[in-house]
Amino acid sequence: TYGSDVTQTPTLWKNVGDNATIDCSHTKGTGYSQMYWYRQLQGEGMKQIVLSPTYGKPEYEPNSKIEKFPVTKPDAASGTLTVKDLVAEDKALYFCAVSQPHSDTVNL
Ligand SMILES: *[C@@H]1O[C@H](CO)[C@@H](O)[C@H](O)[C@H]1NC(C)=O
Repeated sequence: TYGSDVTQTPTLWKNVGDNATIDCSHTKGTGYSQMYWYRQLQGEGMKQIVLSPTYGKPEYEPNSKIEKFPVTKPDAASGTLTVKDLVAEDKALYFCAVSQPHSDTVNL
């Protein structure tokens, strides 16, 4: 069942200027406390936005700002990514992935 135990918001249609919140949850157990958020713009590769740990502060990539992409991580099993103040260029595929801390293994 590799890859089948992480669930996220399927499709979200929003207007320019809105905020969009995407949910992600998993059933892999409390050890999988790290949540990664990525997005893929049309015609581009998947780029990491942020690493959101259950304990501690989120780590943003240099081109991603906390004001634009706030995250929540209430517990190991769930988290959200919000994309604030949507512009047309935010239309993309958004992915979450989870991993154990200090692990090379990422389960998309
Ligand atoms: C988006 O979020 C900001 C701050 O959290 C809020 O001020 C704003 O009203 C929200 N925008 C919409 C369209 O709901």
